[in-house]
Amino acid sequence: MADEQNTKETGNTGSSKKKWWLAVLVALIVCVIAYIGVSMSGRAITADTTDGRFVQVLENNGCLACHAENPPAVWYEGLPGVSGTIAQDKQNAYRFIDLEAVVEQVNAGEVLDAPTVAKIEQSVRNNSMPVTSYATVHPGSSLNGEEQQIVLDWVREQKTAQVTAFAENYGMNLDDASLERAVSEPVMILPEPGYGVDMEMAMLGLDLYHDTRLSGDNTLACASCHQLSHGGEDGQPHARGITGNLGGVSAPTVYNAVFNVLQFWDGRAADLHAQAAGPPTNPVEMGSESWEDIADRLSEDPEMVKRFEAVFGKDNINVDTITQAIAEFEKLLITPNSPFDRYLMGDDSAISADAAQGYELFKKYYCATCHTGASMGGQSFELLGTVTDAAVYFEERGYGIEDGDMGRYAETGVESDMYRFKVPNLRNLELTGPYFHDGTQLSIQQAVRTMFRFQTDHPQPTDDEVNKIVAFLMTLTGENEYMTYDFYPSNNIYPSYGDEE
Ligand code: HEC
Ligand code: HEC
Ligand code: HEC
Repeated sequence: MADEQNTKETGNTGSSKKKWWLAVLVALIVCVIAYIGVSMSGRAITADTTDGRFVQVLENNGCLACHAENPPAVWYEGLPGVSGTIAQDKQNAYRFIDLEAVVEQVNAGEVLDAPTVAKIEQSVRNNSMPVTSYATVHPGSSLNGEEQQIVLDWVREQKTAQVTAFAENYGMNLDDASLERAVSEPVMILPEPGYGVDMEMAMLGLDLYHDTRLSGDNTLACASCHQLSHGGEDGQPHARGITGNLGGVSAPTVYNAVFNVLQFWDGRAADLHAQAAGPPTNPVEMGSESWEDIADRLSEDPEMVKRFEAVFGKDNINVDTITQAIAEFEKLLITPNSPFDRYLMGDDSAISADAAQGYELFKKYYCATCHTGASMGGQSFELLGTVTDAAVYFEERGYGIEDGDMGRYAETGVESDMYRFKVPNLRNLELTGPYFHDGTQLSIQQAVRTMFRFQTDHPQPTDDEVNKIVAFLMTLTGENEYMTYDFYPSNNIYPSYGDEE
């Protein structure tokens, strides 16, 4: 059995012949030694909780040998023909997932984020881990049936906890069948908007969202860059603020932003309330001098004074109440009942056969590991360039790296966060182009191809596959009453859609 794996592996690695044979020889010797070691030590699972058993599987099967920030060196690393591969594997492994952190979180009894669980589930279902080179030198490190089941049981517990908490937060009444679907698929349906929302506050927020008095020169409102009838964004590669300044990044959609784990591409705001405090006094966005100025302007309007008083009490127009009202309104921007949600609920005729196949491809090619959950994104910060380096992306883009390209690093200063971006949610994708943080991807087709090249360990897809995935992504457009809300600040400084510059 060890030999079988060995031939399989060495058949597709190594470029120089000499090194290649040396590696085979080394691998063979190592196999024998390791095999003896493994059979002597045994891999008994002794823990009696699902969490404990899961951690033991990771530890017993060498997963932490690669998936840690500073993985321990293994003795054969220095051997010719081996060192390069191992170093590369370790580097790639950590870019995809930090299992040391996972073990810590599990030991602390936490519920993990959806993408982490989805990645583990996918790799274990496909039995793709550990990578072949490692499995070759560590016979028995591939998961056996029992170990696979332990991981899948753990995945099920995690997903049940995630889905139950989500349903509770958003007032979803899931019957057993819907709960089962939500746990067994990587994507779940979106809830209806309105649960737990203070409607009077939200309606005040709706008007503030469209109010140009939040900007320094009375030209811009939130809606200027996040137009509700335009997918919740502006259709521009880079947002254009007061005085027509071009910001460094593309405006993400406000639809379903309530589900984001943090706000902004780099996650610098904790939630919608905190986020809304940013743009009005940002000099390149709305350019107001201060929140006192904004509050003064609004206080001159008797109608506003009345409405604030009704919601927040007397003399309470300030940064906190203004942003709270806007955030309350944004909670209404959930877009359920897309054709795909109806398909998930069991209506096979809701989407075309091509789109249904596209969804299967979306799962098969690991897209649904990062774009997972109800909003299909927004839950994690992922490297732009897990398999192909981000440097290649930026080089090909045609202009140098800018501030907005740092990603999560800009907020945390942690080196491994460089070029990690909040995964965009894919809901309503047909309305939210151009794509990516830098707005460089002009079509869904282009975005999908770039994803294949940079994010997944799979060969470039055929045209047919791309078309099917795109057909699937086009079924994600949902419903919300504000999607036809046609108010737009009258002093529109934007050129019409698509002819930027
Ligand atoms: C020799 C190093 C090595 C070991 C040991 C290893 N992995 Fe990996 N792992 C990788 C590499 C490299 C990748 C990057 C993707 C690829 O190359 O397929 C990866 C990717 C992953 C991913 C992300 C998959 C994705 O595409 O999102 C998961 C999850 C994972 N490994 C889990 C495990 C588990 C569980 C174990 C233990 C059973 C394990 N790995 C052992 C090297 C390793
Ligand atoms: C000048 C254009 C502009 C204006 C005006 C503007 N935004 Fe934005 N908005 C952006 C850009 C660009 C980003 C992304 C910035 C980043 O991530 O660094 C963003 C990000 C966001 C996000 C985060 C979404 C996510 O997925 O991370 C929300 C929510 C949001 N804006 C809501 C608002 C609200 C509410 C207002 C009014 C108070 C507002 N915006 C005003 C351009 C604008
Ligand atoms: C490792 C995580 C990861 C995987 C796997 C992944 N994506 Fe992405 N996806 C991202 C990130 C991060 C971005 C944002 C990149 C940026 O803004 O520079 C993104 C952006 C996108 C966008 C553009 C969305 C927008 O609004 O800008 C589409 C479309 C997309 N991905 C589709 C896919 C498809 C299809 C697959 C599978 C072939 C896939 N993704 C696999 C992380 C991932």
